[in-house]
Amino acid sequence: MRLRKTRTASFIGMALLAFGGTCAAATGSDAHPWMNPKLTPDQRAALVLKAMTQDEKFRLIRVDFGDTENGHVMAPGALGSAGYGPAIARLGLPAIQESDAGLGVAKPLKIGATALPSGLSTAASFDPAVAYAGGAMIGGEAHRRGFNVMLAGGVDLVRDPRNGRNFEYAGEDPLLAGLIAGNAIAGIQSQHLVSTIKHYALNDLETNRNAVSSNIDKTAARESDLLAFEIAIAAGHPGSVMCSYNRINATYACENDWLLNDVLKRDWHYPGFVMSDWGAVHSAAKSALAGLDQESAGETFDKEVYFDKPLRAAVASGEVPQARIDDMARRILRSLFATGVMDHPATQSAIDFDADRKVAQHAEEAGAVLLRNQDALLPLSAAQSMAVIGGHADKGVLTGGGSSAVQSPQGNAVPGLPPSEWPGPRIYQPSAPLAAIKQRAHGAVSYISGDDIAAAAKLAAQAKVAVVFVEQWAAESFDAPHLALPGNQDALVEAVAKANPHTVVVLENNGPVAMPWLAKVDAVLEAWYPGAGGGEAIARLLYGEVDPSGRLPVTWPRDESQLPRPEIPGAGLPSIGLIPQGQPAQDVDYDVEGADVGYRWYQRKHLEPLFPFGYGLTYTHFEYSGFAPHVANGKVTASFTVTNRGTRAGVDVPQLYVTLPGSNEVRRLAGWCRINLKPGQSAHLTVAADPRLLVSFDGKSQHWQQAAGDYQLQLGHSATSFQGDGKVTLPMASWAADAAPAGTSQPCTGAQ
Ligand code: BGC
Repeated sequence: MRLRKTRTASFIGMALLAFGGTCAAATGSDAHPWMNPKLTPDQRAALVLKAMTQDEKFRLIRVDFGDTENGHVMAPGALGSAGYGPAIARLGLPAIQESDAGLGVAKPLKIGATALPSGLSTAASFDPAVAYAGGAMIGGEAHRRGFNVMLAGGVDLVRDPRNGRNFEYAGEDPLLAGLIAGNAIAGIQSQHLVSTIKHYALNDLETNRNAVSSNIDKTAARESDLLAFEIAIAAGHPGSVMCSYNRINATYACENDWLLNDVLKRDWHYPGFVMSDWGAVHSAAKSALAGLDQESAGETFDKEVYFDKPLRAAVASGEVPQARIDDMARRILRSLFATGVMDHPATQSAIDFDADRKVAQHAEEAGAVLLRNQDALLPLSAAQSMAVIGGHADKGVLTGGGSSAVQSPQGNAVPGLPPSEWPGPRIYQPSAPLAAIKQRAHGAVSYISGDDIAAAAKLAAQAKVAVVFVEQWAAESFDAPHLALPGNQDALVEAVAKANPHTVVVLENNGPVAMPWLAKVDAVLEAWYPGAGGGEAIARLLYGEVDPSGRLPVTWPRDESQLPRPEIPGAGLPSIGLIPQGQPAQDVDYDVEGADVGYRWYQRKHLEPLFPFGYGLTYTHFEYSGFAPHVANGKVTASFTVTNRGTRAGVDVPQLYVTLPGSNEVRRLAGWCRINLKPGQSAHLTVAADPRLLVSFDGKSQHWQQAAGDYQLQLGHSATSFQGDGKVTLPMASWAADAAPAGTSQPCTGAQ
């Protein structure tokens, strides 16, 4: 979206207007026979469609902006958020009320909501249940605010650690990202809302996102970014897919026949509707024929409202068949029934923010990744004196920016930081790590901002331990031109580490950053954007009340030269000091790495990253034994025993990697377990290799092919460290693109 303004109007006033004219809540089966819950969503949608006028259909296939911007006057019933479509009272159809996004209810900003930690944090938990619980929490808040569509489900693969929206996504691996995003979507929809999945597809950089073409071989796309969507859709059944801003192989995503019609609707049998991103529509007939079902906020963000007059004209001329308009409306209606929007209308009710904050805190505790812990400096002891430095740790924890940014009901803990315009403001959750540390420490704890490096070093020298908080604000609409931490933070860490041999660094960031001081500090905790309970979670992790259990869902490069594209032309945002580097590219060549995203690229190129995918330390350590792969009825599993060999309880994430015959030793994550074990305790586990990771797409025959031969299976502590190796032999097999092998929803079984 372009520039946005924050609304200040009264939420309650708007809410009354919203519900005044909506949803006749039809129960009379004669008047509204589609309200019979015994009918299937398809039957119910067909009944409504039959009763609809052409004008009603045309009203349903577009929503307006639900907020104010660029002179747009907010519709009387809108809630002050991303999208609004008026109720069709005659049919008992409620107003469509759309809210961003995947980390919580973003608007109206001033009313506030509970912020989950970054999507990358949830992905780092490797725990679909954490994703589901987070989704249910934010979906519940949205429903209690009166929203019935949540613009969530970000699953674009992390192809570049500098992409400004990585914090909204679920990492670089299609299986992990797909299962995490799919479960988050299922959690949201359990609260009777439609969730989207977005941004379909290959919106893998923000720079020049409204025009850039993501160029990639279609086969490679099927095995990477599209596979993540395919897996997430199968796991979460989102009511809507949001097509993205960018072009794919020169054609805009929202008018891309191959992407929407061939892949999504034909091959994946997707029954829901495709909505556009805000300002992503460029045509009427072309988009409609390519499979776009609903135009979002065209009156504010597109050149014109394509899905009104221009599309009506295209129907009148015969360019677009009436059946296509009917299909659009039917798909939207079907999702409203399938997700429970029609049977459980969103109504205003109280929110238990304390309970919801605990959900966010738990997600952060499960997703923070311990990257370094020399001489077991962590967990800290309460007796140690401490200097806490930087990162506004006395006030709160950082949040990523743009349409997904959530502000606490208590407001922004650090107001007034740049940029003042969208994608700002820069928001901090009022969950101060300093206060949570002070609650636990018996020794003296002092704080200094870090602006004055010499003063910070002096304070650090006086304490037993120094904890430096460093931060990197990222947001929708721009990418970072490089991996360096902004400002003088590297110098700050260097100075503190020189002054105090027991220095811990806590990162609050979008993802991988350069850490030139790494060897000089004892410990590093990757806290991502930590969410509403972040301060408490960080303190609990530092003091060992919970064991760090996150594993990296992204590879951590040593520097930009290891990336498939060392430069992002045009990346940056001057208002926060990131000066754009050159002219933005019109095309990005994703065939450089193709389907070998993230850790697979590093394997292919024999590069050693700083930290590999799947990596994360704990306060204990785990050992694997008895690795035994099996094949039964064509299904591949591997069983093994995991034992906690340390003296503390902890969580392990054993990961199953597979190397396909002839695949040049590039491994794929095929499954994993997440298990909590007491000291000395063992568990015998069986992990299933997801069949979707055992096949390759053959573009010529449009089939998924399982090659005949030996499949190497390895049990990993990460993508580069293995303890357990074996192989299975599989026969040749093949599945048509529209009948792909079904995956597992639960990769791990076993007993402690
Ligand atoms: C973003 C979407 C978001 C939409 C509505 C766009 O700028 O790309 O993710 O859902 O705005 O706010």
